[in-house]
Amino acid sequence: MTADTNSAEAPYPAPRHIAIIMDGNGRWASAHGKSRYAGHQAGVGAARAIAMAAVESGIKVLTLFAFSSENWNRPADEVNGLMHLFFEVLQQELDELQSHGIQLRFIGAREHLPEILRKRIAAAEAKTAGEVRMVLVLAVAYGGRWDLVQATQRIAAKVRAGDLQPDDIDEAVVSRHMALAGLPAPDLLIRTGGEQRVSNFLLWDLAYTEILFSPAFWPDFRAAEFAAAVDCFRARERRYGRTRDRLEALAD
Ligand code: IPE
Ligand code: IPE
Ligand code: MG
Repeated sequence: MTADTNSAEAPYPAPRHIAIIMDGNGRWASAHGKSRYAGHQAGVGAARAIAMAAVESGIKVLTLFAFSSENWNRPADEVNGLMHLFFEVLQQELDELQSHGIQLRFIGAREHLPEILRKRIAAAEAKTAGEVRMVLVLAVAYGGRWDLVQATQRIAAKVRAGDLQPDDIDEAVVSRHMALAGLPAPDLLIRTGGEQRVSNFLLWDLAYTEILFSPAFWPDFRAAEFAAAVDCFRARERRYGRTRDRLEALAD
């Protein structure tokens, strides 16, 4: 089944790329009298459910924000717990993800991650590189500002080497150096947990992304909430700065 099936009532196409800020694990844990670590474990369950819902509904790219540049500033216990969880989950879920045709790609400052995790990440990317049904991008140690800085550094290096002229740097060149290079920009950004901010996620790529804030804590965000978010997206008119008349003229 593709994302376009069952869409008779939705006026606009389904999203190709959905990005999610998976927020609210800690508050979910407090509400249930559990540790923050248990909250993150519950969050893994939601990530699994949403990855499956996304692949089943024909989404081509799902990007999940799992750990931000700023999350290094959390207590060491929590950071270590999260690194342990990423390591375990990668091992446990890899075959299942691959059996659904999911390619894994990681974005972020991976040099800051423990070496053992970096190796497992590289192995997971290599193992699933040939899968084409959906790309699952995991943003770990990621920040939108980090992304812009690393792109700028790589572009500057090409200029210094004489491979690129400053006047030739345009939006396409910058896009090709961003962490999501080669993938369509997110059509829809979902943030769970009720906060209404971007928290240094994909600053370059979100320029014309539709945004949906859900009050649900991430562990409670499941297939039904995901389907409702997609329906909401499909009712929105994206204008990209144009007028409605101009959009219609372009569609002809
Ligand atoms: C999101 O949940 C997970 C990570 C940032 C790793 P939080 O841990 O931020 O949960 P809240 O916002 O404290 O509820
Ligand atoms: C954003 O959540 C980062 C992730 C979900 C990985 P945070 O909980 O870190 O964001 P703030 O601190 O509320 O902005
Ligand atoms: Mg949070």
